Amino acid sequence: MGMEEGLKENAVSASNLRPLNQCRTLLPIRVLQVFLLFFVLVLGISVVSLHMIKYLKIQTLAPTILISTCDERSTLESFIKPSVWHSMNDSELLWRASMEPRRYEYPFKRVPKIAFMFLTKGPLPFAPLWEMFFKGHEDFYSIYVHTLPNYKPDFPSSSVFYRRQIPSQPVAWGEMSMCEAERRLLANALLDFSNEWFVLLSEACIPLRGFDFIYSYISRSKYSFMGSADKDGPYGRGRYSYAMGPEVQLGQWRKGSQWFEINRYLALDIVEDIVYYHKFKEFCRPPCYVDEHYFPTMLSIRYSNLLANRTLTWTDWSRGGAHPSTFGKSNITERFLKKLPHAHSCFYNDQPSQVCYLFARKFAPSALEPLLKLAPKVLGY
Ligand SMILES: *[C@@H]1O[C@H](CO)[C@@H](O)[C@H](O)[C@H]1NC(C)=O
Ligand SMILES: *[C@@H]1O[C@H](CO)[C@@H](O)[C@H](O)[C@H]1NC(C)=O
Ligand SMILES: *[C@@H]1O[C@H](CO)[C@@H](O)[C@H](O)[C@H]1NC(C)=O
Repeated sequence: MGMEEGLKENAVSASNLRPLNQCRTLLPIRVLQVFLLFFVLVLGISVVSLHMIKYLKIQTLAPTILISTCDERSTLESFIKPSVWHSMNDSELLWRASMEPRRYEYPFKRVPKIAFMFLTKGPLPFAPLWEMFFKGHEDFYSIYVHTLPNYKPDFPSSSVFYRRQIPSQPVAWGEMSMCEAERRLLANALLDFSNEWFVLLSEACIPLRGFDFIYSYISRSKYSFMGSADKDGPYGRGRYSYAMGPEVQLGQWRKGSQWFEINRYLALDIVEDIVYYHKFKEFCRPPCYVDEHYFPTMLSIRYSNLLANRTLTWTDWSRGGAHPSTFGKSNITERFLKKLPHAHSCFYNDQPSQVCYLFARKFAPSALEPLLKLAPKVLGY
């Protein structure tokens, strides 16, 4: 009984409440209607605007591009000190790097710098030696490192090599990809308007003198140090192809060390070149090692009066073969290091000079330890 009563009571109370319940169910329906209307409206607007965006694509994108470049231009800093890491591909980079200010009154204090460009596979075994060399000369140099594309360097933030890796591509020994990597290094370094001289180095190179000496030797030179010689025989003129004419004649064919130092003017010339690039890419393939011929030939055709025709990087070819000698731990003595800068006789600014080399290669990683010990006393850093 009790249960029935209870049910009745519930029924009664339920019937009593019905109008109120109707009200409650009516209210959500209105809300739903309003919401649906709103939803349809929003959907309509978004569909229309999507079509508008498609239709007006160029018009809507242009202002955002304009705004972002305006933002960059508003700080000169980002323009004169660009980040080493960027998203430009080679054609974009070379084009961008070929731009040069024509107004030589700089709106900032321009201290001319030497760009040290390291063409490497990855690791830099002599990084500790270079760190010693660079210490205290922060305003006078910049560093660029080209590695294999997937190499991830792990230099601490205190290192001079920290975040100096440029976007890189694979390199094959003696092929055009090598010159392309060198051009990539030059182009990246040209983006910094303070870089005035450009030195190409490998991971097996070491500096033979202190920074001040090297800076003054390079900055006071009338000529750029690009090896460039007219050599007979299979390794010289023998590598020339008549298909390279008329731009490159046999008598203009030059050979030189890959390791160069050039000024900004010649660096721009290399970066902007299209004509010689295509000739050498097509007609100078192994056993024509393009990195020994492309820049030496091209620059001596266009600017022979600006070249010292010798390299600053000492290399020991005395043993013959395709690769030079490598020096390891047991070869590093005070006597050996002292004679390196003078290993040849040469001219500096048209005068006979005692010092012909500022850098040397090739050194094996095991040479690091004795070099670190001898550097302060023998090499001057
Ligand atoms: C670089 O990108 C541009 C635009 O996408 C393209 O036209 C050009 O061919 C690319 N160049 C290289 C070398 O990939
Ligand atoms: C370098 O060689 C060129 C010929 O290729 C010559 O005209 C120029 O004077 C040489 N430079 C020096 C500094 O001797
Ligand atoms: C370096 O030293 C080792 C051991 O003394 C010697 O065998 C080698 O020929 C030297 N290398 C060069 C390039 O002089």
